[in-house]
Amino acid sequence: MSQTKFWHLNSILNIIRFIFGLSLVFWIIFYGGKNMSQKEIRNEKFDICIVGAGLSGAVIAERYAATSNKTILVIEKRNHIGGNCYDYIDNETGIRVSKYGIHIFHTNYEHVWSYVQQFSKWIPFEFKVQSYVQGKHVPLPVNIDTVNSLFGLNITTVKQMDNWLENEQVHFDHAPSNSEEVALSRVGRKLYELIFKPYTIKQWNKSPAELDPSVLARIPVRHDWENRYFTDAHQALPANGYTYIFQTMLHSKNIKVKLNTDFFAVKHFLQCGKTYFTGPIDAYYSDFGLKPLEYRSLMFKRVVIKNIDHHQPTSMVTHPSIITNYTRIIEYKWLPNQLYKSNDTVLLIEKSSDHGEPYYPIPNDDNKILYKKYQALARKEHNVYFVGRLANYKYFNMDEAIKNALYFFNRTR
Ligand code: FDA
Repeated sequence: MSQTKFWHLNSILNIIRFIFGLSLVFWIIFYGGKNMSQKEIRNEKFDICIVGAGLSGAVIAERYAATSNKTILVIEKRNHIGGNCYDYIDNETGIRVSKYGIHIFHTNYEHVWSYVQQFSKWIPFEFKVQSYVQGKHVPLPVNIDTVNSLFGLNITTVKQMDNWLENEQVHFDHAPSNSEEVALSRVGRKLYELIFKPYTIKQWNKSPAELDPSVLARIPVRHDWENRYFTDAHQALPANGYTYIFQTMLHSKNIKVKLNTDFFAVKHFLQCGKTYFTGPIDAYYSDFGLKPLEYRSLMFKRVVIKNIDHHQPTSMVTHPSIITNYTRIIEYKWLPNQLYKSNDTVLLIEKSSDHGEPYYPIPNDDNKILYKKYQALARKEHNVYFVGRLANYKYFNMDEAIKNALYFFNRTR
């Protein structure tokens, strides 16, 4: 390509980027303007009220708007749509970052994959994660390279890896009753002590022995060189980010969105046919005298490094060592759905916390019993449905949240 043609193409691309950025700003202003006042909510009847503009709420809203003429109100207490999938362009670096932690879409559910095609172009992306252990970056999930690097071995075949793991694994004469036993039975004591035990303590502030087997039951171990974090059939990122998907899903004459509004502050005067609640189930019944459910949260520290290509070898590096108090560092510049090329990089350093937004339900016997009590209350409701990860008190990946919301919509429409 000639030099002139190249510059011509580049200017067109810059104009497209500019228009896209501008329309995003307009969209935000427009939404702010359309964001209903309390008076409007008070005076209007809605067929459907949805609490939460996250993935679960957006799917329900989109499905009603696409298949009926019903009026829909979405109430969101945050100042943006998208729930925990919300992303934005970092002011200082121009890099797209996710406000509530890295989000990689992956699924084996064909109907979910085909559903999300309507709202975005998707860029195939295979997520690679490394762990920083004893001064080295090693692949995670544990694979042949991980154990060779950490223990100075020279495993060269899958058979040798099978044997090594078999020797390491601790065999119990009963089904594992907690996460320590699960991890020991899957990876053995050396890897458990080096990676999984300290990381779990940092993440949950509890020893794996105090946690339900389900917490570590799904730790993947690879018997070969597979270094992709997920092995699902579909793995991708939305070309224009996740927030764009939510804008598309909620764009309908029948959907009204009310941001910055806590449902409980307006509940008494809302006039709704059906209500879909995607917030924490224990918050819905907070005046029923039950103990609150326990959640684990995250704190994110933003660090900008100027004039650098990349800071770390991959988008996510976990830090199991107890010497540091953070659990993982995300470098969004690695993700291929960036709008601009930046000379700098921005890191989001994650630290686990007891306080803050409810991210991870804490699965132990007490919480399981307590959740059942909340579930019993929910079953007695008429025209109120509990949807999503907070209402189910269960960690959902995005595809599971979509699947669950589609299922609920079909069952309750
Ligand atoms: P979500 O929490 O997103 O939405 C609920 C909404 O309800 C929130 O916006 C909240 O503000 C609102 N709300 C609550 N109470 C309210 C009230 N009283 N009034 C008004 N609004 C209220 N998945 C995946 O597939 N790949 C990944 O890589 C990741 N990564 C990831 C990282 C981290 C750190 C977390 C915590 C989670 C993930 N996930 C993930 C999971 C993903 O975030 C999850 O599947 C979806 O966010 C679930 O969407 P929901 O709508 O159910 O909840």
